Amino acid sequence: MRENSKRKGSPNNNTEGEYKAMSDKTLKIGALQLNNPFLLAPLAGITDKAMRSLCASAGASLTYTEMISAKGLWYGDKNTRRLLDISPIGDEAGDPFSSSAKDFAPARCSAGRSDFPVAFQLFGSEPEIMERAAMSLALGKWMKRGEFLEDVAEDAPAGEYTSGPAANGPTIPALLDLNAGCPVPKIVRNGEGSALLKDPDKLYDVASAMVRGVRAAHEELAAQRSESLLLPVTAKIRMGFERGENNAVECAKVLEAAGISAITVHGRTREQYYDGRADWQAIADVKRAVRIPVIGNGDIYSGSDALRMMYETGCDGVMIARGALGNPWIFEEAIAMWEARNADVQADYVPPTQNQRIEMLLHHLNLVIADKGEKIAVKEMRKHIAWYTKGMRGATAVRRAVNNIDEAEPMKREIRRLVR
Ligand SMILES: Cc1cc2nc3c(=O)[nH]c(=O)nc-3n(C[C@H](O)[C@H](O)[C@H](O)COP(=O)(O)O)c2cc1C
Repeated sequence: MRENSKRKGSPNNNTEGEYKAMSDKTLKIGALQLNNPFLLAPLAGITDKAMRSLCASAGASLTYTEMISAKGLWYGDKNTRRLLDISPIGDEAGDPFSSSAKDFAPARCSAGRSDFPVAFQLFGSEPEIMERAAMSLALGKWMKRGEFLEDVAEDAPAGEYTSGPAANGPTIPALLDLNAGCPVPKIVRNGEGSALLKDPDKLYDVASAMVRGVRAAHEELAAQRSESLLLPVTAKIRMGFERGENNAVECAKVLEAAGISAITVHGRTREQYYDGRADWQAIADVKRAVRIPVIGNGDIYSGSDALRMMYETGCDGVMIARGALGNPWIFEEAIAMWEARNADVQADYVPPTQNQRIEMLLHHLNLVIADKGEKIAVKEMRKHIAWYTKGMRGATAVRRAVNNIDEAEPMKREIRRLVR
C-alpha cells in the first residue's frame, strides 16, 4: 500500500491510469447487489430516517440504522422498535411527505423519498439473544420476552404502533450487521461492541448465532412461500481494542468462518475512539486475508478520499461516516469520480452552492419534523445546522441563536439569514 499521507479532501494527484485499472464490479453482499460501492455508516443519534433518506437520494447504495439493542428487541422495547421503522416519512395514505415536509423540496434533492435499501445494525453479546433477534428481524416479527408475536396489537397500548408498518412487525431490511466496534464504556462493560474484539471465540459465537437465526427464518419463510432470499449477515469491526493493537485479520477470519457475508473495517482501535488517523493498512491486510467483500471505513471526507481508499487498500466498498455530516453530496461526488475512475475529474460533480446547502438544511429540518415532530426535530437539528453551515460567514451567530430556539419557524428564519 502506498503512503497514506493525504487527508481531509486534499487534492488528489493520482494519475488517471492507475484508477482506470480498478475493478468495474460493484459491491455484492451475499445475494444483495448494490448500485455502487459507497455506503452511509451507522451513526447513533444521527442516521435516522431523514439522514438516511437524504444520503440515499444523493446516491448512497446502502444506509444503516443507528445501532439497535438485541436485548431491547428481545424484551419488546418500544423505543428500540421505533429505530427499526424504515417506512417512508409521511402520512399513512402512502404520501411519502407529510405536508410539513412537502413545502420545501430543494432542486438538489429530487428523489428524497426512499431510504432503501437499509441495513439494521445490532449490538449484543449473548448468542441466544442475537440468534433470536436476527431471526425475528428476518421474519419481520416483533418479540416479547424472546417469543415472536403474530399480532403486535396484543402488545400495544393505545396510541402505540396500532397502525402503519411498525405495527405489524419490522420491515425486512437489506441485511443485518453486527456491531463489533462501539467504544462506549457502557456497551464495552457489557461485553458488547468493541469488547467482542478482545475475545475472538465470543465474536465467533455471536456472529454464527446471528447467521443461524437468519437461516432458520429463511427455512421457515421458504417453506411458506417457496421463495425467500437469504438475508446477508455482515459485521463491522475496528482494527483492535487497545492502542497499538491490531487483530483485525484474526477477527475477520473468525467472522468469515462464522458465515458472515462481508466485513467493514474501521481502521482505529477502541482506545482511539474517533481520534487520530484511521490506519488504512489494516483494511488492506484484511482484504488480503479473506475472500468475502471488505468495506473500508475511516477518514473519508471527499470523493477523492473514497477512491483513494479503494485504490490503496483494494477494498470492495467504502463506508462514509463523519464525512456525510452536513454533506450528503459526498455520495454524488464519490460516484462521479468512481464512474470516471478519476479522482481529479470533477466533470459530473458540481459542489453545492451556499444557498443549495441552506436549502438542503431546511429540507432536512422538514423531514425530521415530519418524522419525529417539531419539538424533537428542533433539538436534534442544532447539530446538523452546525455541520451544514460550517465555514459560512455569519454561521457562528446563527448557531448560537438556534441553540436557544425551541420552535421550527424561528429556527428556519435564523437559518435563512445565511442565504446569499
Ligand atoms: C456520533 C457517532 C456515532 C456512531 N455510531 C455508530 C453506530 O451506531 N454503529 C457503528 O458501527 N459505528 C458507529 N460510529 C462509528 C462510525 O460508523 C465510523 O466507523 C467512524 O466514525 C469512523 O469513520 P469516519 O472516520 O469516516 O468518521 C459512530 C461514530 C460517531 C462519530
